Amino acid sequence: MKLLDVDGLSKSFGGVAALRHVQGHSVVGETLGMIGPNGSGKTTFVNIVSGHVRPDAGTLTFGGTDISGKTPHELASIGLCRTYQSVRVFASLSTKQNIDNARLLLNHRGLNQAELSELLEWLQLDALLDKSAGSLTLFEQRRLELLMRLVLKPQLIMLDEPVGGLAVTEVIEMINLLKQLKARCSIFVIEHTMRVIKELADRVIVLIAGEKVADGPPLEILQNKRVVDEYLGAPHA
Ligand SMILES: Nc1ncnc2c1ncn2[C@@H]1O[C@H](COP(=O)(O)OP(=O)(O)O)[C@@H](O)[C@H]1O
Ligand SMILES: [Mg+2]
Repeated sequence: MKLLDVDGLSKSFGGVAALRHVQGHSVVGETLGMIGPNGSGKTTFVNIVSGHVRPDAGTLTFGGTDISGKTPHELASIGLCRTYQSVRVFASLSTKQNIDNARLLLNHRGLNQAELSELLEWLQLDALLDKSAGSLTLFEQRRLELLMRLVLKPQLIMLDEPVGGLAVTEVIEMINLLKQLKARCSIFVIEHTMRVIKELADRVIVLIAGEKVADGPPLEILQNKRVVDEYLGAPHA
């Protein structure tokens, strides 16, 4: 069953076409990857789908519902949320206060205490509740941001470079967490680290200069000539 479905999505900033007539869909339960060079429009795609940026043209549906013009808050309340390429937490607030704020967003079919405890333990945040979020490591902040979305019980979570800036051992740990996340919700993930794509994605969309140039299984995509020539530079499969 289709979950996210977009067609004819276009967006320009000044003279720069960030997205050109992009079409694509995700399926319930699927992890859909998105790759492409810097500036190819990946974050713009997430910004539009998550209600942060208005497209110039195009249709957007989620679970069969037209979501054009909906706010990020409205989208979160119907189960669509995202994390940010540059992690966004309230640095001066504690981990616990950050989580409490995230829970307030919905009014609420939210988590009960047992479910929250389970998430805290799973993401190894339970010992960090009283620390200020700004004092956490980047990896801890990325786990906190993830938890702040999972309290909303999303159907689809969109992750913009979830291992960006992490050390190699942390990348491996994050991949393991995201593998477990697949059992909790559908995932859309932008990444430059092909290991993440190979280990997590069921299907991959490739954007180059705002255009979708390929869409298919990871091992096929990572050997696609245009993708190799214009993005990967060398075979990754
Ligand atoms: N808010 C914005 N204002 C102006 N230009 C933007 C804005 N957001 C993105 N762009 C431009 O759109 C293009 C795509 O950017 P982006 O979606 O961030 O790419 P990616 O995430 O693939 O690196 C780039 O040329 C970028 O400079
Ligand atoms: Mg980006």
